[in-house]
Amino acid sequence: GDYETILLDRSGRVGLITLNRPKALNALNSAVMREVIDAVAGLDADPGIGAIVVTGSEKAFAAGADIKEMADLGFADVHGRETFSGWDALTRARTPIIAAVAGYALGGGCELAMMCDMIIAADTAKFGQPEITLGVIPGMGGSQRLTRAVGKAKAMDLCLTGRQMGADEAERAGLVARVVPAAELLDTAMAAAGTIAGMAKTTAIMAKDAVNAAFETTLAEGVKTERRIFYSTFATDDQTEGMAAFIAKRKPEFNKS
Ligand code: HXC
Repeated sequence: GDYETILLDRSGRVGLITLNRPKALNALNSAVMREVIDAVAGLDADPGIGAIVVTGSEKAFAAGADIKEMADLGFADVHGRETFSGWDALTRARTPIIAAVAGYALGGGCELAMMCDMIIAADTAKFGQPEITLGVIPGMGGSQRLTRAVGKAKAMDLCLTGRQMGADEAERAGLVARVVPAAELLDTAMAAAGTIAGMAKTTAIMAKDAVNAAFETTLAEGVKTERRIFYSTFATDDQTEGMAAFIAKRKPEFNKS
């Protein structure tokens, strides 16, 4: 499509969405929301795409929701328009999504990264929920996803003081999957996405669903959910192919049907 605030590229079976409002440090206004959601929906519906990377610039993944767009809103505006709830669509995408984060991931930017399935961070990444410094609180899931990711201690610290957390602290705390030198961020994220996209898409969706179940339910229910999904992998051609390929000592050819 013709996007104004993002760039959309493809590399093999990987879709790449680059937030592109450099003058505003990729602040997430309603156009960015509309365009990211539209691009993700298009990639998600494409059987030729097996993984998606969302990234920003060297300086900022995203410095938050667009403060200039929000400043004059009142309760009735945000409540009536369900401002920001459109982002929830991202969490309904079935294709695995990697956030590749360099520089600022603040407020809505941190929340957007946390809506993705995993975060790969440059050593320059800075995560924070500074909403309180503006007289508001996180509104795109930050108080919930950050707490589940890093626990109450650090989530409270970040949400109450507004301080930023560097890449190493974020990795120690369990928010990010990997930290790499900034110059290697995009290559690393694209390579990880390429690896995922080389797996059977059906199975990748099942794996993602199983892990996500851990955040929605009790351990006993989650284990039952996992087992049902595990059994159903045996109904796929990809299970037949994957195991036959292992035994024949050749590479599997997934995604054939
Ligand atoms: C709108 C923003 C912005 C934002 C930066 N800019 N962040 N515009 N919304 N969130 C704009 C600045 O106004 C400035 O525009 C330009 O981007 C460059 O930013 P500077 O501040 O000059 O850059 P720098 O001095 O390097 O400081 C970087 C920064 C700072 C520390 C990241 O920009 C900052 O604190 N930004 C706000 C961070 C924040 O509070 N985010 C949370 C937002 S609330 P001009 O035109 O002056 O050049 C939120 C709510 C989520 O996200 C809840 C959703 C429901």
